[in-house]
Amino acid sequence: DLVLKDAASDFFIGTIVQANRLTGQYDVVMQREFSSITAEYQMKMDIMYPNQGVYDWTASDAIVNYAVDNGFNLHGHALIWHNATPEWVRNFSGSDTEFEAMVKDYIKTVVGRYKGKVTSWDVVNEAFNDGSGSYRNSVFYQRLGEDYISKCFQWAREADQDVLLFYNDYNMCNDQTKQNAVFSMIDELISDGVSVNGVGFQMHISYNGPAKENIMAASNRIVERGLKVHFAELDIRANPDNNMSELTSVRALAQKEKYKEVAAIYNSLPASNKYALTIWGLKDDESWLLDFYGHQDWPLLFDMHFNKKDAYYGVLEGL
Ligand code: XIL
Repeated sequence: DLVLKDAASDFFIGTIVQANRLTGQYDVVMQREFSSITAEYQMKMDIMYPNQGVYDWTASDAIVNYAVDNGFNLHGHALIWHNATPEWVRNFSGSDTEFEAMVKDYIKTVVGRYKGKVTSWDVVNEAFNDGSGSYRNSVFYQRLGEDYISKCFQWAREADQDVLLFYNDYNMCNDQTKQNAVFSMIDELISDGVSVNGVGFQMHISYNGPAKENIMAASNRIVERGLKVHFAELDIRANPDNNMSELTSVRALAQKEKYKEVAAIYNSLPASNKYALTIWGLKDDESWLLDFYGHQDWPLLFDMHFNKKDAYYGVLEGL
């Protein structure tokens, strides 16, 4: 049978991993279908840097070693994200100068440790507010001002000259104001000579939106800047209104069509602007969306028994 990674001839097909899900059926399906992995949460700051001066590489090393040993591309996610910022950083007691030195040291330590093993990093994740497009009021913004993004990119680049550096965010295809804010920031990085290689669209979407035209228009804004496009966290909700107790065949086919559409859009981008299409989860029962929305859904390509769903064939047909 044709598999996802072979259908995608000039870019990676990714999934997410946890350190305790690298064996058995997980390993079998990942090796069969996927060419790239991303850590679901174990390469975020709160896990790797839980206390000041104390790193914990247990899970991240396991994931990095798994990728290297099995020939997977590895996308690093994410160096700076307000939601995965440890308590001690949120409540940092030192001066702003000391805070800056600490963040610089963290980025250099992490990027340096995995140099040559991680192909790409999300340097900053979700820095803008929905609707207004203003800067999110994270501790990084409070301490360093809006230049923090530029500084983080420069520190990451100093640590690894070859790694691809991405800015990553959600709602990028349906929130025009936020989209404009992100591309203004990207344009500033470019005009300041800061090394940025790509933009990730998370792509947590639904069977009924955003529309194809919006996804294409947003993607083109990356392409026209000569940057790489990462569809970084794709999952497609089948039950956004919480009115189904099981996945109906009608809705499963609607979800399949949306997966097919998104895969086809990605596939149609110019080869040099493609990098990876990453699905945010392997099996429906393990999707983060179940906790996030607190109700049932079936957003992924495989059911809880690792069986391929209609959605899987949607991606395959779209590629
Ligand atoms: C989520 C993970 O799936 C969860 O396991 C974790 O507890 C919280 O983060 N946007 C992102 C991802 O950039 O890192 C998030 O992942 C989902 C939303």
